[in-house]
Amino acid sequence: MRKFNLALVSFICLLALTMEPIFAQPPKGDGASSLPSSESPAKHEPQDAVQGAKQVTESRQPAIYPADVRLGFLQRMRENLAYLNEIQAALAASDFEQAADIAEYKIGLSSYGPQNKRQFPYTPAPMKQMGDASRRSASKLALVLKEGDMKKSLEALATTTSTCVACHATFYAQ
Ligand code: HEC
Repeated sequence: MRKFNLALVSFICLLALTMEPIFAQPPKGDGASSLPSSESPAKHEPQDAVQGAKQVTESRQPAIYPADVRLGFLQRMRENLAYLNEIQAALAASDFEQAADIAEYKIGLSSYGPQNKRQFPYTPAPMKQMGDASRRSASKLALVLKEGDMKKSLEALATTTSTCVACHATFYAQ
């Protein structure tokens, strides 16, 4: 009986030894697959977005512009994003003065320009109000930035970007 047990134990040990590479594989496999799997969220996100896009219906209201005015409008929008980017870069360099200047003069109340005049007759009133609110928020951001407090600045920046998000959720340009 003891002999049988011994034989059984040796057999199991042998089995375990031969299987070790197999057992060793999953961690190794995990290690190897950790690259694709850590990439997979990024890989899958666009797919999810596409899948989601199939179900998207337009719930926003149109702002209807003549073609050339619309082009100018969208260009101005891309500039908005570029200016936000510049504010972030200035903040990262703790250049609060520079960030404040961009906030006030590029996206704030001091940034109304000829393109706004061209858009004005076509822009729906509620959208105009959201645009004004966005500019007021950027001017407020400029004042906060001048205090040189990073946390308050980031909060004020988030408040300003939320005005971009709010309008994008409500209107599209046609
Ligand atoms: C008053 C409304 C409003 C505000 C405020 C606003 N946007 Fe827009 N933005 C729009 C609309 C409308 C479009 C066109 C979206 C569409 O047709 O789907 C647009 C488009 C854009 C685009 C895409 C441009 C392109 O070439 O297609 C960018 C980038 C953008 N906005 C950035 C910003 C940023 C950054 C802010 C804040 C600083 C901002 N916008 C504030 C209304 C607004």
